[in-house]
Amino acid sequence: MLDLLITNATLPDGRTGISIAVQKGKISAVQAGLQAPARETVDANGYLLSPPFVDPHFHMDATLSYGLPRVNESGTLLEGIALWGELKPLLTAEALMGRALAYCDWAVAKGLLAIRSHVDTSDPSLLAVDALLEVKKQVAPYIDLQLVAFPQDGVLRTKGGVDNLKRALDKGVEVVGGIPHFERTMADGAASVKLLCEIAAERGLLVDMHCDESDDPLSRHIETLAFEAQRLGLQGRVNGSHCTSMHSMDNYYVSKLLPLIAGSGVSVIANPLINITLQGRHDTYPKRRGMTRVPELMAAGVNVAFGHDCVMDPWYGMGSGDMLEVAHMGLHVAQMTSQKGIRQCFDAVTVNAAKVMHLQGYGLDVGCDASFVLLQARDAVEAIRLRANRLKVWKKGTLLAQTPEVSAQLRLPGRPVTTGFTVSR
Ligand code: FE2
Repeated sequence: MLDLLITNATLPDGRTGISIAVQKGKISAVQAGLQAPARETVDANGYLLSPPFVDPHFHMDATLSYGLPRVNESGTLLEGIALWGELKPLLTAEALMGRALAYCDWAVAKGLLAIRSHVDTSDPSLLAVDALLEVKKQVAPYIDLQLVAFPQDGVLRTKGGVDNLKRALDKGVEVVGGIPHFERTMADGAASVKLLCEIAAERGLLVDMHCDESDDPLSRHIETLAFEAQRLGLQGRVNGSHCTSMHSMDNYYVSKLLPLIAGSGVSVIANPLINITLQGRHDTYPKRRGMTRVPELMAAGVNVAFGHDCVMDPWYGMGSGDMLEVAHMGLHVAQMTSQKGIRQCFDAVTVNAAKVMHLQGYGLDVGCDASFVLLQARDAVEAIRLRANRLKVWKKGTLLAQTPEVSAQLRLPGRPVTTGFTVSR
């Protein structure tokens, strides 16, 4: 007897009429038309069944703080950092945890079950680190929360920055972060990349650096990051986040850079909502989009994922934990409007992001965790187009959230009342 059988599902790769069998929290069969006795059977009605959404780049210590202590008037990255600096002395562990846990509830409702969050280590009290380590423990039954030690004010620029970061790692933060473009000089930025990669190599940790989040085409820390990944044998373990300066770089230089990134096994995370909001702020017209070169990186064989980055915080007042909104913006900004391009954007918030986080048991193959999202959409393209309703969200075979099927009643002049109307193809 199976624990759960989901029938008649469409999978992100396009297969239809698929049954997925679940036993002891794992997928035990994936087969077209499979019928078998189960404690619970769910007819997917042809809708899309996807592995859970994964956000590989987020700031949970700042989330839901919009307006505290004031709103970012200029909309720039730098005012956001300054505003976060004003908020930090006012933070309490209790309030920070309350906001983070509230966001995790939003995430579950949206089928977002794995989040990599940076946590600011610049404050020697490490209040945010302790608070998010506690949140990580509390949400562990339903969200894989991975934490990155992030020296927001610059690891070299801040007095005691290296020590604070190492103490955060000692406490159990599992990824080494950095922000080379915010150090005082290009040389210090490069030195910070080298230092932080060496710390990760010594401790056997992953690296995820905010890298070149700037419109400055000469911000080239991604080159150092890729070089250090190769030099220290960290291939497949290093990620460059944002890399927005690549948007503005000279094409010849990028033609040399892409093979270096691909060869070093460095992945890249674009944050479409935030990049299109924060970049290009010093431009008049034309205004640059400021997102990194997503299709070109993908074509070069680089693993590229999309992150949400911010939801209602000093940098961004929008957002709801919806990774389909992220993918939707990503495909517009990158002009990835072909069928293949749209599907790649869906991968960027699911499988590619899971690869960045080194998630174990992720996917829809036999033996994977029975964690998935049933969407009110016929395929991945429609899911992004409609930012589709999440009908059901399971984690290891347990139902965590469900939302009724959304439909409207139309009462149009001269026509009979229509119920059960949905926008679809
Ligand atoms: Fe970020």
